[in-house]
Amino acid sequence: MTSAGAGGGPRQGGLDVLVVGSGVAGLSSALRLATGGLRVGVLTKGELVQSATRWAQGGVAAVLGGDEDSTDLHLADTLAAGAGLCDVAAVRVLVDEGPLRVRELIAQGARFDMGPGGDFARAREGGHSAARVVHAGGAATGAEVERALVAATHQTAAAVLEGWFALDLLVEGGRCHGVRALAPAGSTGEGAGPVEVRATHTVLATGGAGQLYAVTTNPPESTGDGLAMAVRAGVPVADVEFMQFHPTALHHPAMPRPLLSEALRGHGAILRDAAGERFVDELAPRDVVSRAMASRMREQGVDHLWLDATGLEAFGARFPTIAAELEAIGLDPASDWLPIAPAAHYLSGGVMTDLQGATALPGLWAAGEVACSGVHGANRLASNSLLEGMVFGARLSEAILAGADGPRPLGVLHALLAGGSDDRGPTLPVSAAEPPGGGLAGAPADTAKAREDLQRAMTDGAGVVRDAGSLASAAAAAARLATGAAPVVDRATGELANLLDVSNVVLRVAGERTETRGAHARSDYPATDPAWRRRIVVSAGRVAVLDEPVAP
Ligand code: SIN
Repeated sequence: MTSAGAGGGPRQGGLDVLVVGSGVAGLSSALRLATGGLRVGVLTKGELVQSATRWAQGGVAAVLGGDEDSTDLHLADTLAAGAGLCDVAAVRVLVDEGPLRVRELIAQGARFDMGPGGDFARAREGGHSAARVVHAGGAATGAEVERALVAATHQTAAAVLEGWFALDLLVEGGRCHGVRALAPAGSTGEGAGPVEVRATHTVLATGGAGQLYAVTTNPPESTGDGLAMAVRAGVPVADVEFMQFHPTALHHPAMPRPLLSEALRGHGAILRDAAGERFVDELAPRDVVSRAMASRMREQGVDHLWLDATGLEAFGARFPTIAAELEAIGLDPASDWLPIAPAAHYLSGGVMTDLQGATALPGLWAAGEVACSGVHGANRLASNSLLEGMVFGARLSEAILAGADGPRPLGVLHALLAGGSDDRGPTLPVSAAEPPGGGLAGAPADTAKAREDLQRAMTDGAGVVRDAGSLASAAAAAARLATGAAPVVDRATGELANLLDVSNVVLRVAGERTETRGAHARSDYPATDPAWRRRIVVSAGRVAVLDEPVAP
C-alpha cells in the first residue's frame, strides 16, 4: 500500500480535506475550503464534469424575492412532500440559507435565466405552492452550475485526482483519515494496487445510486459508492428505502432515460393515460404522481403513459435542451404526445449527518445526495437537491474552517446520538464481509451482466410499488449475484460490489418498513401508519428503528 498526497502523486504533502465526488455538493465545498486557505483535494472516478449534477434539469428552488412567496411556504411545501419524515430544523436551514447560496453561485459565474422584467425567471414544479424554481438554459440548470464550479475548482484545489476510484474509507482510531483508492493506470508509477489518499477531513459527496435500477435518469456514475463505503465502515445511514421515481422520464431505450422536466407540468403539460384521460393532479408531489401512474399502467396493461405538452407555447425557446433531445428521436412536442414512465431518480436517504454535515464518524462529512441531512424525508421536493448540495456543502466547509471535528446531536443525528432504538438484527452479508480490494468470494463472472441482472431484480422487486414477496425475490437475486461476483480489481468490479452492498441495505430496510409513506409504496401495507413516523437506521451492520418519532 502506498500513499498519495496533493498533486495526484505520492507523498507531496498532506491534504487538509479530501472531497470525494465532483457534483454541486463536492465542488462547492472544495471551493469554499480552498478559498478559506486549506489544502483541498478532489477525487473523482471520472472527470470533474461527470457528475449527476450536470444532468439536473429543473432548477434550484429558492425564495429570491416575490410578494406571493416566503421561506415559510417553501418550508411547508418541503415538509408536505417529505411525508412526515423531514427534520424540521434541517429544512429551516435549507430554505433560509438557500437564497444566499444561489446568489454566491451567481457571483462565481453561474448564469440563471432572467425574465422580461430583468428579474429571475421562475418556474413552478410539483409540490411547490409558488413559482420559485430558478433555472439556467431552460432546463439545463445542473450543467450550468457544474460549469461554473468546475472552472473555479481547477483554479483553487491543491489536487484534482480524476479517474481515481475510492474503494473504502481509511478508519483508524475511531476517525476517518481519507480513503483507499485505485489510481488510474500509469498515473502514479505505483503499480496497480490500492493507494492511501490521506487527509485530515474527508467529505463524501459521491451522489446517488440510481444505477441500482434498470430504468433510471441517473448517469452510469451513480452507483452508490459513498453510501457503500459508509455502510462497510459501519457509519450510520438512514431513509434509504426512499428511492424517488421521477414520473416523467421519456419511455425510450436510451439510458439514462431522458428526463422531461417537471417544469413542463409547471408550465401546463398534462398527463394522460392510455385512453387519453387525465388521471392525477400534475402538480402533486412526485411520489403521488409516480404511484398514480404505476397503478394506471397496471390497470390498463401498458408500459408507458403520455405527457401532452402540445398546449405549451414557445416550447423550443423555453426548453431548448429537451426540444433538441426530442427532435433527435423524431418527436415534436407541438403535435406528439410524449411517451413517459417513472424512472429511479433520487435517493432521499443516505449517510446521516448533523446540521453541519458531520457524520457519526469523526473526520467524515457528507453532503448532497449521498447524505441524509433530513431535508428530504420520505420524498424530496422537486428542485431541492442542488439547493441541498450548496447549503450543506457550505455548512460543512464553514464548520471545518472553524475547527469542528465531530458530530453534534442535531438534525437527524439527534435521535440517533441521544435516543434509543429497537434493534431489528443484522443486514445480510454481501461484500461487507470481504470488502472491495480484499476480493469477493466466488468465480469471476461477467461483471456487466451481473450489474444488469441486479438492476432488473431491483426494478422488478423494489420499484415504485413493492411488497414483502417482491423484496425477498430481489434480495435472493442480489445474494446470488454477490456470491458469483468477481474480486474488486477495477472500477467496474468496484461499482458492482457497491451496488450489491447498497441493494442489500435498501432491500433489508424496505422490508422492515411495513407501511406506505412517500417514495416507499407497499402494496401489502397500503396505508401510512403514524407509528412508523420513525427513521430506520443501518449502523455497524445492524438495522434499528429509532425510538424517537420524527417531530411533526
Ligand atoms: C426535473 O426537472 O423534473 C428534475 C428536477 C429535480 O429532480 O428536482
